[in-house]
Amino acid sequence: MKTVLYPGSFDPFTNGHMDLVTRAGQLFDRVIVAVAVNSGKNPMFTLEERRQLIAESCSHLAHVEVVAFEGLLVEAMALYGANAVLRGLRAFSDFEYELQMALMNRNLMPQCETIFMMPTLKNSFVSSSLVKEVARLEGDFDRYVPEPVAKAVRARLAEQRAK
Ligand code: PNS
Repeated sequence: MKTVLYPGSFDPFTNGHMDLVTRAGQLFDRVIVAVAVNSGKNPMFTLEERRQLIAESCSHLAHVEVVAFEGLLVEAMALYGANAVLRGLRAFSDFEYELQMALMNRNLMPQCETIFMMPTLKNSFVSSSLVKEVARLEGDFDRYVPEPVAKAVRARLAEQRAK
């Protein structure tokens, strides 16, 4: 059984992330989407909210499990028996950070392999931060995220505006 761990902040989960989860299902038996705390960022959604939104968005995909994790990625890998880490590469600018992370993870755990996949061109410019910016500025963002995420973003922005 081949298992890949797909870690990220997923604040929020986008169609680009969904694209990767779907593609990974063609290579791996199990895809575990691992939502990270990522304390350096100020997220729109809590860890549990992000986990639930991904689970709802991927409920039609039998090979997908969604978990939240704190601490080191390599520890989460060992905990879930993952053979590899999956990360998306959209543009060349992603590469330096991704290379550094992949090499650090391999240094921490020599058997840690990182697999990079590219989303389809249609999703290659989609990022969580741009989706949030477009949504905050009242642009049409629905086409970039799964339906449960679009609803939740709208609700969160309405809550924030009502404060
Ligand atoms: O979606 P992001 O914010 O680019 O994801 C970054 C993430 C969560 C994959 C990375 O910050 C991470 O792996 N965090 C867990 C802590 C850890 O293991 N840090 C060392 C990695 S080199």
